[in-house]
Amino acid sequence: MSKNFDVVVIGGGPGGYIAAIRAAQLGFSVACIDEWKNAAGGPAPGGTCTNVGCIPSKALLQSSEHFEHAGHAFAEHGIDVKGLSLNLPQMLSRKDTVVKQNNDGILYLFKKNKITFFHGRGAFVKNDASGIELSVTGKTNESLIAKQVVIATGSNARALPGTPFDEKMILSNTGALAIGAVPKRLGVIGAGVIGLEMGSVWRRLGAEVTVLEGLPTFLGAVDEQIAKEAFKLFTKQGLGIQLGVKIGTITTGKKDVTVEYVDAKGDAQKAVFDKLIISIGRTPNTIGLNAEAIGLKLDERGFVQVDDQCKSSVTNVWAVGDVVRGPMLAHKAEEEGVAVAERIAGQHGHVNFNTVPWVIYTSPEIAWVGKNEQELKAAGVAYKAGSFPFLANGRARALGDTNGMVKFLADAKTDEILGVHIIGPSASELISEAVVAMEFRASAEDIARICHAHPSLSEATKEAALAVDKRALNF
Ligand code: FAD
Ligand code: NAI
Repeated sequence: MSKNFDVVVIGGGPGGYIAAIRAAQLGFSVACIDEWKNAAGGPAPGGTCTNVGCIPSKALLQSSEHFEHAGHAFAEHGIDVKGLSLNLPQMLSRKDTVVKQNNDGILYLFKKNKITFFHGRGAFVKNDASGIELSVTGKTNESLIAKQVVIATGSNARALPGTPFDEKMILSNTGALAIGAVPKRLGVIGAGVIGLEMGSVWRRLGAEVTVLEGLPTFLGAVDEQIAKEAFKLFTKQGLGIQLGVKIGTITTGKKDVTVEYVDAKGDAQKAVFDKLIISIGRTPNTIGLNAEAIGLKLDERGFVQVDDQCKSSVTNVWAVGDVVRGPMLAHKAEEEGVAVAERIAGQHGHVNFNTVPWVIYTSPEIAWVGKNEQELKAAGVAYKAGSFPFLANGRARALGDTNGMVKFLADAKTDEILGVHIIGPSASELISEAVVAMEFRASAEDIARICHAHPSLSEATKEAALAVDKRALNF
């Protein structure tokens, strides 16, 4: 006997579970299918983000930063730490506990919102007058009929051709978050978000980290001035970043991995690592969905084809998050999930792609929203720029964390904020003010005239806005 629902969501990551909650809030009968298993084989909803992405990486970033600070930064504050040692099993176990708290939180939210959760793999069976039929294959098998389906099946790490992940020596994000002993020599291919975050974690814990990046520019999507500052700081910290390399043969031995590559000068190089993380982007996950059964169209790269409303090629089938175009970010997936649930209810769900913030959780953090200088130049937009260094911010000095700056880009004529770029302490939190300002189409002058608490890092935001008209007060 099939079970009937108004809305069935396939995937319980940030896109899927949030879509399910919003649909339930709007009065629909909702089911969510997710196949992720915890170590005991039980359900672990939350997707990549909760299990092997945002949450565990931030747990390890925090722990490794504490370790590094205890190692030297505390001394400046007059705190002498003697006999410092690393308890990596405890650090990893804490990370696992944080993940489990989030898994359990989502299961609780399903119950609270009367969402029926199915633990298993969801696949399309057929689409006819009675609705869209899906199968769930898990401990028990189920048949579901849905009026509307939301696909939120996420993404997987992209492997280098000929070098599959074994998660022992060749690591994706999954293995990178669970290395049992600090590797002496850690190689990372790809100086993107994962490469820099994971490289930072293991460097802080004692690994000698080499990051090999294919492109000649560092962090090409980031404002050039900020990327330059980041490169300088990360190199000073000891991350060995090599740009413009061409990766050749990778050979896995019993105890090490050898990477042959050609460096930016064109010279052949060979590097030997104890572990190798490959972080060269992610691919959409539609494995096992049986998309053909309902004629669901995928694009040439395997993303579910959707319009700007997240409608797929099949009526009443929607798709959100990493499995569709746009940035692969948890908060983008969530916004799409909410918007789709509201559209199903006949409301006007809204996602503003121009104000989706980006954060790289290195130290210092990098965060931005809107356009960067090179994009504005390329588009021929006349703009004004203003920046303010954390070195001139009292709170940053008190924290002992003065690297970086806040930078504003505003329209030369109207003063509307076009982009805000931050590298520095708590950039991930500071960027929210810029996001709100841009949503309300504020001018730099608006931020410059708002009272900001003293002493706070947010004063650097106000000062950068003042600097747009060359009126910074403290610099
Ligand atoms: P996912 O989170 O991938 O969830 C998809 C779910 O669907 C999974 O549980 C999967 O098992 C399930 N599934 C797939 N197919 C089926 C099926 N047929 N049946 C049943 N279940 C299925 N983003 C940020 O915004 N901030 C960060 O700090 C951040 N850090 C990251 C760190 C790392 C190391 C990685 C890898 C990613 C990070 N991301 C971060 C990106 C973020 O994790 C993704 O953008 C986000 O998880 C996408 O959400 P989603 O719901 O689309 O997919
Ligand atoms: P990425 O797209 O951020 O970076 C991949 C890097 O690998 C790029 O610099 C690219 O030029 C390089 N590269 C690609 N092919 C290569 C090759 N053959 N040889 C050498 N270099 C090569 O992808 P990443 O780091 O894998 O992360 C995937 C996605 O996950 C991110 O784009 C982001 O959407 C998400 N994520 C978000 C985080 C956050 O919000 N803080 C943290 C981690 C991941």
